[in-house]
Amino acid sequence: MYKVFCRTYQGVMKFASSFLPWREPELLMGENSLEKLPALIKGQGIESVLIVSDKGIISARLMDEFLQGLKEAGICFVVYDETVPNPTIDNIEEALKVYHQNKCMGLVAFGGGSPMDCAKGVAARAARPKKTIPQMKGVLKVMKKIPPLFAIPTTAGTGSEATLAAVVSNSETHEKYAIMDTALIPHYAVLDPVLTLNLPKHITSTTGMDALTHAVEAYIGRSNTKETIQFSKEAVTLIFENLYECYTNGTNLTARANMQRAAYLAGMAFTRAYVGYVHAIAHTLGGFYSIPHGLANAVILPYVLEYYGESAHKPLAELADLVGLGNQGDSDQIKAEAFINAIKDMNKKMDIPAKINGIQDSDLPVMVERALSEANPLYPVPKILFKGDMFHLYETIKA
Ligand SMILES: NC(=O)c1ccc[n+]([C@@H]2O[C@H](COP(=O)([O-])OP(=O)(O)OC[C@H]3O[C@@H](n4cnc5c(N)ncnc54)[C@H](O)[C@@H]3O)[C@@H](O)[C@H]2O)c1
Ligand SMILES: [Fe+2]
Repeated sequence: MYKVFCRTYQGVMKFASSFLPWREPELLMGENSLEKLPALIKGQGIESVLIVSDKGIISARLMDEFLQGLKEAGICFVVYDETVPNPTIDNIEEALKVYHQNKCMGLVAFGGGSPMDCAKGVAARAARPKKTIPQMKGVLKVMKKIPPLFAIPTTAGTGSEATLAAVVSNSETHEKYAIMDTALIPHYAVLDPVLTLNLPKHITSTTGMDALTHAVEAYIGRSNTKETIQFSKEAVTLIFENLYECYTNGTNLTARANMQRAAYLAGMAFTRAYVGYVHAIAHTLGGFYSIPHGLANAVILPYVLEYYGESAHKPLAELADLVGLGNQGDSDQIKAEAFINAIKDMNKKMDIPAKINGIQDSDLPVMVERALSEANPLYPVPKILFKGDMFHLYETIKA
């Protein structure tokens, strides 16, 4: 009965989604494309911006030339660089204060998913000053135009530069959840591969696996459109062809640009077609133990795909064929297994562990409940899972 409820809910959401005001960010793309952003901001009549970032970006000196460009263009700016990985509501409130104190007219998100989501949170609060972040949890609670938002991703990655989601954490309750509203889609995104050239190896690998998880979870789900199928396929192909190269040869600009494109396309896929239980579980591990999002997804992905069993064989077999893993005449099951094994191999080659350390048994009941309430009834997963399934999956994942 509950399954029928979930499937009906997902069907209604899919139908309703086609009436939403979807938009795509306008892109500045290619080597050194960031140089063009100050003039673009100026051209919009924006005189002052809040730049949301983090300490890692500052110490990697990724922003220096951009700040110089803003100065030369006569744009006032203030930098908030306290965003933490798995950004918190406190981050958003602090940054919002800075935004108002400096009478900012726009937001620049400079960094990985954490600064981008923090900036989206600030944008949501600026648009809806009377609503708190917890009150905007879930789907379509913003519903108002946000200030101009320019996203500059420096990981490849979350795809947040393309999506309607802001994933935030409550540092007191350890809850991590998404605000999902088409109003939060950034207006502009800068895909400049130069920014990712010095991305450390373990961040390259884990954030790349996050992008793969987006593409795969969207593809095997039931709310695809013609476009999201195409986006997912292109992203999976690009990731299989370029992620390991980026990991071993970080300064390969073409491979970096391809991964940046893959992350963007995977974001475009899941913003319409959703993610699944991999993300629901990963969010609880981020909320409880601050486990980096990409690392959590990379570890969890093969276990959840295996657990789906037959319900995911066909789409996974298609992906196996796409990346040249399927042999003619093999059954869907064999091809799906080949695809899952390729994910495990990729993890292993990039030194990503097979299990997650530090999961406490006493936290499991709350994590299971939260993961289920994130995923059900919303995510159009191949197979609806229940409490017992989720306990089993957490047991499998934990070291
Ligand atoms: N909104 C969405 O659609 C969406 C999708 C997936 C994930 N997320 C969220 O995004 C967050 C994770 O983002 P992330 O994986 O991009 O990591 P992140 O933004 O947390 O960054 C991780 C670390 O990498 C460093 N870093 C980033 N770019 C760098 C660079 N070019 N050079 C050197 N260091 C660099 C940062 O300083 C930070 O220390 C999670 O909270 C996750 O839930 C959001
Ligand atoms: Fe993700």
